[in-house]
Amino acid sequence: MKTALISGSSSGIGRAVAEYFLRNGMRVVGLARDHNKFIWKGGDYIPINVELSDSSKLTDLVKEVLKNHPSISTFVSNAGYGDFKSLENFSVSQIERFINVNLLSHIILSRALITHMKSKGEGNIFLMGSEASLTGKKKATLYSAAKFGLRGFAQSLKEEAGGSGVRVCLINPGMVRTPFFDKLTFEPAEAFNNAIEPEDIAKIIFDLQSVRLGTIVEEINLFPSKKSINFKK
Ligand SMILES: NC(=O)c1ccc[n+]([C@@H]2O[C@H](COP(=O)([O-])OP(=O)(O)OC[C@H]3O[C@@H](n4cnc5c(N)ncnc54)[C@H](OP(=O)(O)O)[C@@H]3O)[C@@H](O)[C@H]2O)c1
Repeated sequence: MKTALISGSSSGIGRAVAEYFLRNGMRVVGLARDHNKFIWKGGDYIPINVELSDSSKLTDLVKEVLKNHPSISTFVSNAGYGDFKSLENFSVSQIERFINVNLLSHIILSRALITHMKSKGEGNIFLMGSEASLTGKKKATLYSAAKFGLRGFAQSLKEEAGGSGVRVCLINPGMVRTPFFDKLTFEPAEAFNNAIEPEDIAKIIFDLQSVRLGTIVEEINLFPSKKSINFKK
């Protein structure tokens, strides 16, 4: 059975990808801290608790996952959170935690999977970038640092993996209507065209992982057709 590892499978985009894969006959191993937010009753979903800021545990975690699920051929490296304020308002420990979750965990998990994928001669790694991978904006120093970092990582890993059958693709969405905004001071305005729906991204990733191995898609940029924002009171 085709199996995928998805980080951040408990909510938002990761959850939508997990549901789409499961509904289309794939097995999903999901990583997050709180799996009570997403309970799948249909079987073939294996939730695993992990705190992704704890880099020292991630390599052993992937070893264990691969021992139990050697058929993993797709990794959706998606988990992350937003924190938007001027640089001087972040403490050093907030910066470290932010980069650990939003950049380092993606690199370490990909490193732990790539040898396995290369040895099988096939694999797909999807890294969840953002429009903030492409342009810096005020109050987004850390977010853009992580997302630009992911872009460089994705481009270089794609080159390194070239010819091995492992494909690396960066997905750069604009605003997506998810709980990402619950802890933020802004959110996309209500009208349907002010945000991408997570299911739109799920469909795209499902199609990309099933594209013939000879074809590589390096990067996808997608945006809502309008961009109105609500600032919360
Ligand atoms: N929503 C947008 O507008 C948007 C746009 C562009 C890119 N993105 C990116 O898309 C990705 C997913 O975001 P989303 O919109 O789906 O947000 P979300 O609904 O808040 O989901 C975030 C996911 O990441 C997991 N996660 C966060 N911190 C974690 C940690 N320390 N350890 C383990 N898991 C952690 C969460 O799981 P637990 O809380 O259960 O641990 C959750 O499953 C992020 O990388 C985000 O930067 C989002």
